[in-house]
Amino acid sequence: MTERELCAAAVAAMARAYAPYSGYQVGAALLTKAGGVYAGCNIENASYTPTVCAERTAVFKAVSEGERDFAMLAVCGGRGGEIAGAFPPCGVCRQVLAEFCPPEFPVLLVTGKESYRKYTLAELLPMGFGPSYIASEK
Ligand code: THU
Repeated sequence: MTERELCAAAVAAMARAYAPYSGYQVGAALLTKAGGVYAGCNIENASYTPTVCAERTAVFKAVSEGERDFAMLAVCGGRGGEIAGAFPPCGVCRQVLAEFCPPEFPVLLVTGKESYRKYTLAELLPMGFGPSYIASEK
């Protein structure tokens, strides 16, 4: 799976967003080291706070299926599913990624039809609090 293919999987997932309140559709595609892809979209709720982001949908799908070894994540989003630039993961999603992914983990932010920018998790979440700080609990 190439980086471009993973971005395309995120774009496909974005079309499945349930976002009647914000109107912002978000898609994520999480590649496992074994080569599997778990896609996710944002799922909003009339009570607002139960809303879950696309990235966490993808991570929780994967972890609940027994996958914890991740290679790369692609994310895209925009109003009405129009990609008008990067739509970066929120802080909560960055924290969830830090639970399972190392600082050098690559995150692709789709910026247009044929373009994306590549970051590391450490760039998105500097000095992140992860499992190593409470290693004795693991
Ligand atoms: N959203 C995501 O899906 N991922 C993020 O990391 C940022 C925000 C969703 C939540 C909500 O449904 C919509 O985008 C607007 O905030």
